[in-house]
Amino acid sequence: MASEKLFSRKRQTNIFLGSLRGKNRTIPVSFDKLHEAAKKKMSEETYAYIAGSAGREITKEANRRAFKQWKIAPRMLKDVSECNTEVSLFGQRYPIPFLLAPIGVLDMAHPDADSAVAKASAEENVPFIFSSQASVDMEACSSVMGDSPRWFQLYWSTSNDLVESFVRRAESCGCEAIVLTLDTTMLGWRPRDLDLDYLPFLRGRGIAQYTSDPVFRELMNTSLGDADEPPKLTWNSIKALIKMAKNYPGGFWSNLVSEDPRRAVKTFIECYSRPSLTWDDLSFLRSLTDLPILLKGILNTNDARKAIERNMDGIIVSNHGGRQVDGAVSAIEALSDISKEVNGDIPILMDSGIRSGSDMFKAIALGADAVLLGRPYTYALAIAGKQGVQEVIQNYRADFELTMALSGCRSVDEINVDRLQSA
Ligand code: GLV
Repeated sequence: MASEKLFSRKRQTNIFLGSLRGKNRTIPVSFDKLHEAAKKKMSEETYAYIAGSAGREITKEANRRAFKQWKIAPRMLKDVSECNTEVSLFGQRYPIPFLLAPIGVLDMAHPDADSAVAKASAEENVPFIFSSQASVDMEACSSVMGDSPRWFQLYWSTSNDLVESFVRRAESCGCEAIVLTLDTTMLGWRPRDLDLDYLPFLRGRGIAQYTSDPVFRELMNTSLGDADEPPKLTWNSIKALIKMAKNYPGGFWSNLVSEDPRRAVKTFIECYSRPSLTWDDLSFLRSLTDLPILLKGILNTNDARKAIERNMDGIIVSNHGGRQVDGAVSAIEALSDISKEVNGDIPILMDSGIRSGSDMFKAIALGADAVLLGRPYTYALAIAGKQGVQEVIQNYRADFELTMALSGCRSVDEINVDRLQSA
């Protein structure tokens, strides 16, 4: 019988005995059922935005297919009565090698949005990466997290003053690292959103980091933020104005008659990201902060090498969950070559397609130090708010620990490519 020392054993018992004790789970354990249950909860627009990807969604499929090309070869008789799932990143110890990915516009999934995720991640001691496109600003999220770990994801604005302000605020909020996303200097071509004519940011959703920022508020008052002619009043434009007024800080009625909500959306569109960004710009960010900086969206060995040459502290191998370039290389395929190139010089994280503990195991075996989880926790949030997010974290933790133990690994260091066979 497995030892009670294992977290996974306790989690299984909790689930199996839970209904006998009158405690029901709030979310399904299987990813497919989680996805289905979340889809039922979400509006058509929300589901399209969260589940959708670029183009024909071939990258998204490839992310999943590529995991199947690797098989785990378990080893026996290794005394796995105790397993250590801890990892160390940038001098901090984390209980499991996963973090909650930055996901924008979480209020589409659940009204408690980022606040619920912040509380859940704090209770489980799993780092939450605040999104630049959050629905709740980083100060409010940090205020409910105590000392538990958090990072900040940055989109590089056309305004360097705004970049600096975001970084300073992240430092004041106790963020332990800055994740600079490189692959979204423009939004990808996403047919699901385009077919519904729906982009949440244009309704003033997912711009809380901006509307709470003093530099952004300044930008709103310059020519950059001049509101256009008032929109023609159609049913759709009235709905959009109401949404903007609801989503903008302050009172609904005063927002409805003010130009500020529209001005904020326009300013956001003009300044949110900088397509002209090059490798040379990184020195500016480097000069701003001593926090570790990770580059997210690396899929190529030359880019990984350049990250090291530019004094970056880590990389995240990612294709943004397939949301940016359709037909792109899957993140897990890119990972092993990148890991050989980096050769332990800096930590490598990975996301895009992780749906189980065995996916986490494979990513780590192929060279990741940790992975990010995105859609699974967003679906759990949609179904059951904070409680759902806590359960999903516990389920992934248990699944990962069991996969490790049953494959004969007592610590994360023992997970390496020798434990895999290519299919
Ligand atoms: C933004 O990060 C998005 O993927 O929509």
